[in-house]
Amino acid sequence: MPISPRRQESNVSMAAALAEARAAYDAANPESRARFEAAARVMPGGNTRSVLFYEPFPLCIARGEGPRLTDVDGHGYVDFLGEFTAGIFGHSNPIIRAAIDRALDDGINLAGHNRLEAELAEIVCRRFPAIEQVRFTNSGTEANLLALAAAMAHTGRRKILVFKGAYHGGVLVFGDVPSPVTVPHDFVLAPYNDLSGTEALIDAHGPSLAAILVEPMLGAGGCIPGEPAFLAGLRDAATRHGAVLIFDEVMTSRLSPGGRQAELGIVPDMTTLGKYIGGGASFGAFGGKAEIMARFDPRRPGALSHAGTFNNNVISMAAGIAGMTKVLTPNAITALNARGTALRDALNALFRERDARLQVTGLGSIMSVHATHRPIRAPQDLAAADPDIKDLVFFDLIARGFYIARRGLMALSLPIGNAETAGLIAAFDDILAVRGPLLAR
Ligand SMILES: Cc1ncc(COP(=O)(O)O)c(C=O)c1O
Repeated sequence: MPISPRRQESNVSMAAALAEARAAYDAANPESRARFEAAARVMPGGNTRSVLFYEPFPLCIARGEGPRLTDVDGHGYVDFLGEFTAGIFGHSNPIIRAAIDRALDDGINLAGHNRLEAELAEIVCRRFPAIEQVRFTNSGTEANLLALAAAMAHTGRRKILVFKGAYHGGVLVFGDVPSPVTVPHDFVLAPYNDLSGTEALIDAHGPSLAAILVEPMLGAGGCIPGEPAFLAGLRDAATRHGAVLIFDEVMTSRLSPGGRQAELGIVPDMTTLGKYIGGGASFGAFGGKAEIMARFDPRRPGALSHAGTFNNNVISMAAGIAGMTKVLTPNAITALNARGTALRDALNALFRERDARLQVTGLGSIMSVHATHRPIRAPQDLAAADPDIKDLVFFDLIARGFYIARRGLMALSLPIGNAETAGLIAAFDDILAVRGPLLAR
């Protein structure tokens, strides 16, 4: 049961409102707290995936069904997070479940090629024609690491141009500089959506540049779309300098049947994938031009090695085949993204009408709430956002039975329909009414 929020006085301070919201959250979730405290004895911060942590303690989710989640204290939520874009099918899709069950009948780890991997590879290559050949990994992180290795081997160069504020995986995290956990490649950091600034860096480093690695929309960086002219300019610059252009479409491949690259008509040399393509099981893939991918052909002398015990695991392969062919049809993707665009437009219209210090950025079915009404074109524009407002909105949504990421990310899943999106808009409407001046410009 969602907790019913108390009406607030309009002169309550932000600090008091946040303290009250946190206290109400704490009181409503004793089982989540107990599990967090037990976990913290054996895992740092009770956590094995940093993005899931938030103060005072994160919810522990017990189960999911369709578009809904239930936490260990028995509260139900409409799941607007969709497993950070990987959960596009919703929870426990029966077609995917049946495909996994069938695959398990023949055993899980077979220590050999299986009948499924080439079938999924063919589906991926057909969906994303720039991927002439593909290899599977266990995660998007690994996919990007392998794509970078391939680009360096292919060009015989070492430098990699990436963007400030980009996220390409657990060991490929970039603020203004690479994070301490980022692999020690020779990175050049460029300003996102600033073509002339980026071109100057590309021109300066051109002869030693192996790759340009870019998200067509900054995902973890706040759902900031790459501008078409910026992304097209990267294509031209990479071609000019003989660098490998890698589109990290781990998130954005779901924005159209052929990914964001198809929408933009840009053909990258390599593409990385992940998230939903394994039908909700662990997944990553890197692929692209056959002449680059052929370096992994073990029949070739001096072939690059690409290992991974679970790269072709039958659970991900079977779930992926079923999900991509029977559930996530091109029509279903198109309709889902149209629903996302309509939701984002409706929320932004509401925020404008109420003069709220809120906006939603993103594309199609992937979006992020930000506590600023000022334009957002690049990560530095988020400096204007108010973290307290974002926190308050997060707790207020949880209290009303809507689950989003603490950082504001929302990703629609197929079972989310008009009733669910209308419910979310009504919840925001109510939050704006209750919080009044605290959220105003
Ligand atoms: C754009 C992008 N690239 C790579 C990754 C890493 O994928 P994974 O979490 O499967 O390692 C993510 C994950 O959120 C992502 O958003």
